[in-house]
Amino acid sequence: MARNKTAWILYYSNSGNTKNLADLAEETLKDCGWAVESASLMDFDPAEIKNPGLVLLGTPTHFWAVPAMARKGIARLPDLSGAAGFVFSTFGNVFPSEVPYVLAKALEKQGAKVLGGAALVAPHNFLDGQGHRLGEVYQEFGKDQPDETHLTAFAGAVQSVAEKAEKKDYSGFDIQRLKSSKPVLTFMDRFLPVEWELKALAPVTFDASKCQDCGLCVQNCNTQSITNGSGNTKTINPKTCKRCYTCARQCPSGALTVDWARNEKLLRLAKKVVGSPGSRIIDR
Ligand SMILES: Cc1cc2nc3c(=O)[nH]c(=O)nc-3n(C[C@H](O)[C@H](O)[C@H](O)COP(=O)(O)O)c2cc1C
Ligand code: SF4
Ligand code: SF4
Repeated sequence: MARNKTAWILYYSNSGNTKNLADLAEETLKDCGWAVESASLMDFDPAEIKNPGLVLLGTPTHFWAVPAMARKGIARLPDLSGAAGFVFSTFGNVFPSEVPYVLAKALEKQGAKVLGGAALVAPHNFLDGQGHRLGEVYQEFGKDQPDETHLTAFAGAVQSVAEKAEKKDYSGFDIQRLKSSKPVLTFMDRFLPVEWELKALAPVTFDASKCQDCGLCVQNCNTQSITNGSGNTKTINPKTCKRCYTCARQCPSGALTVDWARNEKLLRLAKKVVGSPGSRIIDR
């Protein structure tokens, strides 16, 4: 089927880092003369994606994996036979893991041919013990990343993949190259249940005496783990809660809290044990 010069960018972003890359990719592709449609994996309509020449798929890394919320959108991807693909991921410099490879496999399962990908360090969106975003305070958790050099390289990779897509030059890229450079991460991705890390991370706690009953937490929990009880009581289901902490970050009154110091300790330990290979951009 003839493909047109339209690119679709599908992304999931919890705190804006991955969306920033999606926006940069959009600008780059428009400069190259492509028509671009950009949509969130949470609410895109697969029926609108008709014969694109290029599809970009991007998500953050959540616990060395593709975020649970994004996986639902990825499962709805339509047939992409004949399209070229590009994948991208952001991570807070703890575990990059196999996210680009997993995203590439998802695109290829739908018939696209992936020609490149990137995993970029970006500010970690957990808080520290003092309530600051880790990625705003510490270089080792992605402060000031991705920098100009990485952003330029990212835009260059998107441009190069778009040029190949136009020429239908789909040769010479093996998605195996998007696998993690650290075998321990490949192992974790395949064999360690994410539930282990979820259990280790601090749960969200609720203090009814501070709740203003604004409803923000219930509305914005992507896993529907918070329910209204009697009065202004909120109940958090620890089994379905993915520890994304969106609710605690948005709560205006401090009724939802997290032991951020415990999480910071855990992440620092994980960094020490595994180490991060930093940003990677692979397109040839
Ligand atoms: C639930 C959760 C889990 C995370 N897990 C990891 C991780 O395993 N490794 C890592 O380096 N960063 C991790 N991070 C940090 C994010 O990957 C990073 O801040 C990312 O850039 C956020 O992207 P976004 O702003 O598009 O949501 C995690 C963040 C959240 C909220
Ligand atoms: S941390 Fe909060 S917003 Fe995130 S899944 Fe758990 S209850 Fe929902
Ligand atoms: S966001 Fe905070 S104040 Fe608002 S309903 Fe939830 S717990 Fe209560």
